[in-house]
Amino acid sequence: MSNILSEDYWTSRYQQNSIGWDVGEITEPIKQYLDQIENFRLKILVPGAGNGYEAQYALKKGFLNTYILDISFFPLQNFHFTNPDFPRSQIHHIDFFDHSGQYDLIIEQTFLCALPPEFRPQYVKKMKSLIKPGGKLVGLLFNRHFQNPGPPFGGEFGEYKNLFEKEFHILKMEECYNSIPARQGHELFFILQKSQ
Ligand SMILES: C[S@@+](CC[C@H](N)C(=O)[O-])C[C@H]1O[C@@H](n2cnc3c(N)ncnc32)[C@H](O)[C@@H]1O
Repeated sequence: MSNILSEDYWTSRYQQNSIGWDVGEITEPIKQYLDQIENFRLKILVPGAGNGYEAQYALKKGFLNTYILDISFFPLQNFHFTNPDFPRSQIHHIDFFDHSGQYDLIIEQTFLCALPPEFRPQYVKKMKSLIKPGGKLVGLLFNRHFQNPGPPFGGEFGEYKNLFEKEFHILKMEECYNSIPARQGHELFFILQKSQ
């Protein structure tokens, strides 16, 4: 099994501002998903958060129990300076696979595609272990493959369905109608639930 991309790799991408994945704000599908939640006590995690726009939005909406996690310290430090009100104790500098915790909701935004595909079964198992019974994993996935070597590592509906259906109920996995223009027609929005 090849190695997971290192902290140094991701930090140098941020240092060189080679961050084509970063859309500069929360994406519309995730914003709309958060907007319809009424329980502000939910414990939310954004793994591989980078600049953490989803967490910034969630905190501002009143989800005070929101956490971010990244293997690279660089974007987390940016996030801390940009969001001084976001509790430091809710910013985790750690490899996702070494993290432990229990969350009601985990948000996926260009994190799975950052991991070499052979890590996907581990990603699914780890997500399951981090989600409370009845909790959800919600977000976006590329519904395409890429010509250049990853990251990003792409995929398609059937692969994701096979991957997730062993561990989660797939409540929704469908072509996303409100992607950013560059990803329109190549993205899936999904809602997965862990059994009670
Ligand atoms: C493609 S970027 C996406 C960042 C952010 N979600 C966004 O959309 O702007 C992938 C992020 O995952 C982080 N990452 C990669 N492998 C990781 C791991 N094993 N554990 C935690 N974070 C990781 C990287 O440092 C990077 O910030």
